[in-house]
Amino acid sequence: MPDAPEVEPTYLVAAKTKDVEPGQLKGVRLRGGHEVVLANDQGRIHAFEAYCPHQAWPLKWGALDRGTLICALHVWRFDLQTGALVDPPLGDCLKRYPTRIEGDQILVGIDSP
Ligand code: FES
Repeated sequence: MPDAPEVEPTYLVAAKTKDVEPGQLKGVRLRGGHEVVLANDQGRIHAFEAYCPHQAWPLKWGALDRGTLICALHVWRFDLQTGALVDPPLGDCLKRYPTRIEGDQILVGIDSP
């Protein structure tokens, strides 16, 4: 049986590039109400679900450190490239969304309805 075709995400404007400085996190509500957190790691923009998969703490209050996003509540650490949980060794991963830069805008790709 062939694989199901990949569904192209819908890209929505999330913020201006100047609104997320290197080293910063920013919580954003996209058109339609979907919430994400943007992370600027040395100029590279990443987007993740807005709340920690552990106990739903807002990740915009976390920090970036050596390629990871750290939740401020219990210090779980997620890989910025994949959303995988780095520390502790067991727990849920963070959903990661694709991003695009168009002009001075950051776009985030969310799953199409
Ligand atoms: S709520 Fe994020 S680590 Fe516990």
